[in-house]
Amino acid sequence: MGDMTEERAYDIVLFGATGFTGALTAAYLARHAPAGARWALAGRNPRKLAAVREELAGIDPALGDLGLLTADVTDPASLRAVAESARVVITTVGPYITHGDALVAACAAAGTDYVDLTGEPEFVDRTYLRHHATAVASGARLVHACGFDSIPYDLGVLYTVNRLPVGVPLTVEGFVRASGTFSAGTYHSAITAFSRLRESARTARERRAAEGRPTGRWVRGLPGRARFDRRVGGWALPAPTIDPQVVLRSARALERYGPEFAYGHNISVRTLPVALGLAGGTLGLVGLAQVPPARDWLLARKTSGEGPTPELRAKAWFKVIFLGEGGGRRVVTEVAGGDPGYGETAKMLAESALCLAFDDLPATSGQVTTATAMGDALTWRLIAAGISFRVRADTWEG
Ligand SMILES: NC(=O)c1ccc[n+]([C@@H]2O[C@H](COP(=O)([O-])OP(=O)(O)OC[C@H]3O[C@@H](n4cnc5c(N)ncnc54)[C@H](OP(=O)(O)O)[C@@H]3O)[C@@H](O)[C@H]2O)c1
Repeated sequence: MGDMTEERAYDIVLFGATGFTGALTAAYLARHAPAGARWALAGRNPRKLAAVREELAGIDPALGDLGLLTADVTDPASLRAVAESARVVITTVGPYITHGDALVAACAAAGTDYVDLTGEPEFVDRTYLRHHATAVASGARLVHACGFDSIPYDLGVLYTVNRLPVGVPLTVEGFVRASGTFSAGTYHSAITAFSRLRESARTARERRAAEGRPTGRWVRGLPGRARFDRRVGGWALPAPTIDPQVVLRSARALERYGPEFAYGHNISVRTLPVALGLAGGTLGLVGLAQVPPARDWLLARKTSGEGPTPELRAKAWFKVIFLGEGGGRRVVTEVAGGDPGYGETAKMLAESALCLAFDDLPATSGQVTTATAMGDALTWRLIAAGISFRVRADTWEG
């Protein structure tokens, strides 16, 4: 942590505390922030913020005094005040491509660490182009995708790599299975991202040109194809989400991933009809999102603040299997937990902020991934918080 942040009023400020995921994150902090942690809530509506604080006081009466900061993404001075009051800012205000940029700018300028829940590649590439250099200069660590996107994959691959030999070419493939439904915020972010595929591809190209590639090491994504994969006993569909991008970024930053590293990312389902339904449904939404009236109709289907009920969340689960191989060794690992979209996402986001605020971490700055900025320290926190990371087998057949 740089000198710039030593005198801050708060260790952590949570922006978006009035939203669906923000409220879950606030409740997680209320139960799990260490004694003496100084944290506060921020949002645009003081009345709604006060109501969230009252809920938190039901968990711990001392939280009745929690600080409340009023800030709106359309008011840069209010975001500057948030960034300058905190050592770490958490934001759940999405879609990030619409609402996110000004807060990243404020944190980069103020040397404030930043975590969010985005799964939007265009947003992350844009903030790299606009704010990475400023954050490197100020010492701020800008860590995107600290939820189900992309922590299980980023830290799961790191966990797998750590169980394979050093200094040799490595290949890892991830297969995710999950159940659960989504909130309005996630739905709006996905439809918005589907409607901007061309802009997204252009921003990715600009980033590639600006960022360059590590010299003397080779990092690549495995080409995806739909197939029945005997090794995991199910259909594997390539998943061009932000997750493989984050994994490959960590591989470029960390020597431990070896001289040649390849990663393949898949969604895994048991039967062909489910695979066809998932692929068809996604393509259908992508198609509709291209047509403005259809897109507006889709967006109006869900209202901000809505999300799955506690009963539905209690039944939801996720499991990611990784097959790792290199230097004559194989390993099968697994990362698993409960409700991926919300319960576990709030946990991952809050633990990321606590990790940046309180753990002894390698010196990093600028836009960094969870594996690069926090790595094993965050993995240990998540294990302690009930997310399982384990070795399933030391080889596989086929
Ligand atoms: N990657 C993952 O694994 C994952 C999982 C869950 C969620 N997410 C992402 O997290 C984000 C939030 O989702 P959600 O379902 O929690 O959304 P939500 O319930 O709609 O909450 C949105 C929040 O943003 C605030 N907000 C909107 N406009 C604002 C403005 N102009 N200034 C300040 N605050 C503003 C809202 O404040 P008000 O209450 O005042 O309206 C609310 O607190 C989405 O982008 C979603 O994709 C990602």
